Amino acid sequence: MGSITADDRLAAALTAIQDEVDSAFDAFLPVPQDTRARLIEAMRHAVIGGGKRVRPLLVVATAELFGVSRTAAVNAGCAVEAIHCYSLIHDDLPCMDDDDLRHGKPTVHKVFDEATAVLAGDSLHALAFDILTQPDTSNDPFVRAELVATLARASGHAGMAGGQMMDMMADTVAYDLQQVTRLQQLKTGALLAASVEMGAILGRIPAEGRAPLRAYARDIGLAFQIADDLLDVEGDEDAAGKALRKDEAQGKATFVTLMGTEPSREQARMLVEQAVRHLSGYGSEADILRSLARFIVERDR
Ligand code: IPE
Ligand code: IPE
Ligand code: MG
Ligand code: MG
Ligand code: MG
Repeated sequence: MGSITADDRLAAALTAIQDEVDSAFDAFLPVPQDTRARLIEAMRHAVIGGGKRVRPLLVVATAELFGVSRTAAVNAGCAVEAIHCYSLIHDDLPCMDDDDLRHGKPTVHKVFDEATAVLAGDSLHALAFDILTQPDTSNDPFVRAELVATLARASGHAGMAGGQMMDMMADTVAYDLQQVTRLQQLKTGALLAASVEMGAILGRIPAEGRAPLRAYARDIGLAFQIADDLLDVEGDEDAAGKALRKDEAQGKATFVTLMGTEPSREQARMLVEQAVRHLSGYGSEADILRSLARFIVERDR
């Protein structure tokens, strides 16, 4: 029998968090017996049974470094994932990327309709903060408030939504590499960074002690979006579960359109190695974070 590799451990950690996130959302979202049922069905379509759950795994793997309870960490992970899934519902709308497929299934506005998709996104946005204020997530109101502040900043105009605005402008404005980097840091990096930060907040690590984790998160955030842009160019649609070859068609500047595929891949790999080096102060307890960084550039979906 072969020995258990880092890849096996990461695969097991991903499967475990996927199951936990699915069960948690199932419990958070019972379908009511009234005309709101359609809204809750749409939310469930978006958050149950799809996605790699990279953000929840970042929260729990970071929280685990500091001995945080699994329930608390999974809750915080679900909060970030609720924001992520809301951002995808809106990203797929006809007024944004106009996509029909997500997580290998028809998108929310295709299965339901645009109005329901907008409301499902709105409601997942609200659910995220509801989850963070529950005593199950932390019994300390200061910790809850810091979690809320961190996720709020990463979601709004100074984070994901701001990045999406820059992205929407990318077909009319000729961004250079520095501007694309900023765009990606907001659009994708902010929520990934918040995931790591929230793990550290649950672990009661003071802001000064979070520097290496923040540096790790910044590097994987950028690498993650470069990988998404590479997938858009060279990925397989069935594996990815979403439409690809969209960035160039929409005239969007990305790392790949600005630098080419090989230099982009090189850059992503370099960022991952740099991210792993930032974890040198941690021992084997940080192995999942190390494997996750590598997975981010090697993934096919
Ligand atoms: C896709 O994110 C959108 C970006 C921010 C690049 P993920 O690759 O994490 O999406 P999932 O795993 O399908 O939910
Ligand atoms: C979406 O970026 C990022 C957010 C939803 C914040 P993309 O538009 O590149 O994501 P995909 O390729 O549709 O998953
Ligand atoms: Mg988009
Ligand atoms: Mg899109
Ligand atoms: Mg993309």
